[in-house]
Amino acid sequence: MASLLYSWRHIFLFLAVAAIGKAVAAGYTRPVFHPTPWKLAYATFYGDETAAETMGGACGYGNLFNSGYGTDTAALSSVLFNNGYGCGQCFQLRCTKSQYCYKNSPITTITATNLCPPNWSQDSNHGGWCNPPRTHFDMAKPAFMKIAQWKAGIVPVLFRRVTCVRKGGVRLMFQGNGYWLLVYVMNVGGGGDIANMWVKGSKTGWISMSHNWGASYQAFATLGGQSLSFKLTSYTSHETIIAYNLAPSNWRAGMTYGSNVNFH
Ligand SMILES: *[C@@H]1O[C@H](CO)[C@@H](O)[C@H](O)[C@H]1NC(C)=O
Repeated sequence: MASLLYSWRHIFLFLAVAAIGKAVAAGYTRPVFHPTPWKLAYATFYGDETAAETMGGACGYGNLFNSGYGTDTAALSSVLFNNGYGCGQCFQLRCTKSQYCYKNSPITTITATNLCPPNWSQDSNHGGWCNPPRTHFDMAKPAFMKIAQWKAGIVPVLFRRVTCVRKGGVRLMFQGNGYWLLVYVMNVGGGGDIANMWVKGSKTGWISMSHNWGASYQAFATLGGQSLSFKLTSYTSHETIIAYNLAPSNWRAGMTYGSNVNFH
């Protein structure tokens, strides 16, 4: 009887330790991005059905078909663009309170790829839709046409940030040269945004990169002829990922290199 009690006590102890272990482990799980509550904003559209005008936006993604974002994109007012830190963030939008909304207000998901600049010669309530402090989405026309009739011109929308669902790892498009590296960060999952970046050449330690513009980061360092690893931190969730040997030693400007890591 005593030994039976003893073993039950052991089992209990084991379970307790397992539970504590799990809780401790939970404290160490990596941070993840969580969607935000729905809020009210407005949406317009720019360009035409081909969305040609949305290519080459202020985030630096270049041709959006090549970079994988397609036409489900929008230019953000400066409040949301946040000096480029808003680049790559994903939003769900649904038209609301307008006769031009499609039936049942379908939800569409867009990626921020551009800035909608303020126009100070227009009143912020009459044409200057992207002037601070307005939260505004200037959507690619095909994206707008998924939620409302384009003849509306402008509609109120409900929006929230959602997790960016991406296939595969973060990709970096390289510019610069052996002494100045400029990379555009693309295909970012989770929060979709980047706060900080570091690069490590096969002959260097970790070098902090500075934010250049849009979704680009730069390092003034001698990195030519070295394989390069990158460390990235999410702007919103603060999660950190490391892409070891993302680029081979013969990397060059103009190339895009993929990784097998991404945010959550
Ligand atoms: C700003 O608004 C004015 C007045 O409508 C317009 O003429 C001008 O083209 C706009 N500027 C830009 C950069 O869109």
